[in-house]
Amino acid sequence: MLLLTSAFYTMDIVADIQDLYKDNKWREIVARYHDHPERNKVLWVYPSEGNFSFVENCLAELGCDRIVSIGCGSGLLEWMITQATGVPVSGIEVDGAWWSCKYAPPNFIPLHITPTEMDKETISIVQRNKNAALLFCYFNNRKAFDDYLKYYDGNVLIIIGPHEKAVHTDPKPFDDVTDIWTLYKFQEIRNSGDFIVVYKKQNV
Ligand SMILES: C[S@@+](CC[C@H](N)C(=O)[O-])C[C@H]1O[C@@H](n2cnc3c(N)ncnc32)[C@H](O)[C@@H]1O
Repeated sequence: MLLLTSAFYTMDIVADIQDLYKDNKWREIVARYHDHPERNKVLWVYPSEGNFSFVENCLAELGCDRIVSIGCGSGLLEWMITQATGVPVSGIEVDGAWWSCKYAPPNFIPLHITPTEMDKETISIVQRNKNAALLFCYFNNRKAFDDYLKYYDGNVLIIIGPHEKAVHTDPKPFDDVTDIWTLYKFQEIRNSGDFIVVYKKQNV
């Protein structure tokens, strides 16, 4: 048992996830890694099938046909959402040392890379995607969050993050948005203490 456990932990999680990704085995990625100690190397949350259905249903109910994910990191979550629900997801990441360094995880979707101060192209992506929900998963940059929302003309905001856990995100998933956003529905990711929280614009 001891041998098996240490073999499991020394397995290269990034390489294994890449192999499963190439074989389109998103369920296996979630099953194998949702509670793996090194999971954050690639992604902060590993939603269940029920969680993906929850997102799909909320989007359908609120008339969204796509998602734009801000600070998507590797894009693994975004790729899995599309695999699980059929909803197209595009990703925006900030230009920085981490994502271009050799230790960075691979990308699972094409990324739009933005400068720290949003350029015209990034603003245009956010503005023209009115039918998209804007997603922030484990985001940690309040000024950028406010800037993205300033340009977003759509009606649905999804924040995924920790609730009452010793992990800091900004925004937090609950009670951390302005009054124009009304809590629509939320669901915990398994029993992880991480929540998917869907907001809609008031009067929609
Ligand atoms: C904690 S990571 C979460 C990554 C991924 N969403 C996940 O859940 O694994 C926060 C990400 O937000 C990105 N980020 C920070 N400021 C940003 C900005 N202005 N525009 C886009 N992404 C940004 C960071 O580069 C980082 O990848």
